[in-house]
Amino acid sequence: MAEPVGVQRGLEDVVALESRICFIDGKQGRLIYQGYDIRDLAARSTFEEVAYLLWYGRLPTAAQLADLKERFGTLRALPDRLQEQVDRMPADAHPMDILRTAVSGLAFFEPEETRPGASSIGGAQRLTAVLPTILGQFHRRRKGLPPLAVRPELSQAAYLLYALLDREPTELEARAIDVALILHADHELNASTFAARVTASTLSDLYSAVTSAIGTLKGPLHGGANERVMELLDEIGVPTRVDEVVHAKLVRHERVMGFGHRVYKVEDPRATILRDWSRRIGEAAGDLHYYELLRKLEEVVHREKGLYPNVDLYSGSIYSLLGITHDLFTPIFASSRVAGWTAHVLEEYQDLRLIRPTAKYVGAVDLPYIPVAQRS
Ligand code: CMC
Repeated sequence: MAEPVGVQRGLEDVVALESRICFIDGKQGRLIYQGYDIRDLAARSTFEEVAYLLWYGRLPTAAQLADLKERFGTLRALPDRLQEQVDRMPADAHPMDILRTAVSGLAFFEPEETRPGASSIGGAQRLTAVLPTILGQFHRRRKGLPPLAVRPELSQAAYLLYALLDREPTELEARAIDVALILHADHELNASTFAARVTASTLSDLYSAVTSAIGTLKGPLHGGANERVMELLDEIGVPTRVDEVVHAKLVRHERVMGFGHRVYKVEDPRATILRDWSRRIGEAAGDLHYYELLRKLEEVVHREKGLYPNVDLYSGSIYSLLGITHDLFTPIFASSRVAGWTAHVLEEYQDLRLIRPTAKYVGAVDLPYIPVAQRS
């Protein structure tokens, strides 16, 4: 038997590969996409610019940006046969399961884009353009609304909101979602991006890699946390109950969703920006209930556990105030992170090395084989 190796549970602090896409400074609380600070991007850019930046490694010129926006518009429609399949999926399914299965199904109709290699940039744009359509189509059917009309002229953020709300968003609402999409677009080797890269590293196709990633993002320790934060707020109800509910959770050794991070040891910079947007959207709606609850929650969790908020703490309060159903929060995360997943898959194809770590075997060896008839 080989010598046992040291085990780094959860691959914590293991450097698995080199990447130019995203840098997290967990001590300073900084996040960089392709050289640009997330605070500048959130203040000044759009999701379309950020997607271009992640894929091509540079910010687009005005002409390149216009071209990408036009492409997104033309790539939004679903193939008729996939639309029929989405319409037949169970109306009570979680939208993350719908997304996962629909992306997998889309591959049947788009063999060209699914081939690994240079053509994958077309697939990256197609998937980014189409996720809001899948979500909107599913959501409208389960609400008994007529099918979604694809709106090529809208920005990704406005189209996503339009698809989920059945109304035109205001400029402020569309900008809030645009910022949320920018902030969620990439985050280095988070679990879902790692899953995408592992799949791509076997020379599998882009759509399979994104299918793996969606299944991984769904978990409550990853993208699913934003939905759980809102369940917690509903359970708490009023700021005076925060202490009691948090204390009871911690006594039961339960996690408080929206807090803590594997990499950030200080406040997640995305949480700082989303806190401000939660207040702005609360003020615009004349409803600061969630914002005040969250501020109190932050205070108590920091006092009790020394934990800081992560990206999932404030996003749900913004989406809720815009009227978005809770189970669509993680799919919104996916609609943004798809840009990052696909950028990483493209990078993986360019410097491909099969990702295949090793396990330390702690089971038995040399057990005598007993034929089935003699086993008790
Ligand atoms: N609530 C209560 N205790 C916590 C939390 C939390 N949210 N996060 C960490 N801890 C405690 C944990 O119990 C442990 O305590 P002890 O040493 O006494 O056992 C200590 O902090 C270290 O935790 P860990 O699990 O070793 O840390 P990790 O690096 O594996 O955890 C995490 C990272 C995100 C899984 C964790 O902080 C967590 O479960 N947070 C809640 C879920 C959440 O908000 N997820 C969204 C993450 S950000 C979006 C994304 O990237 O997907």
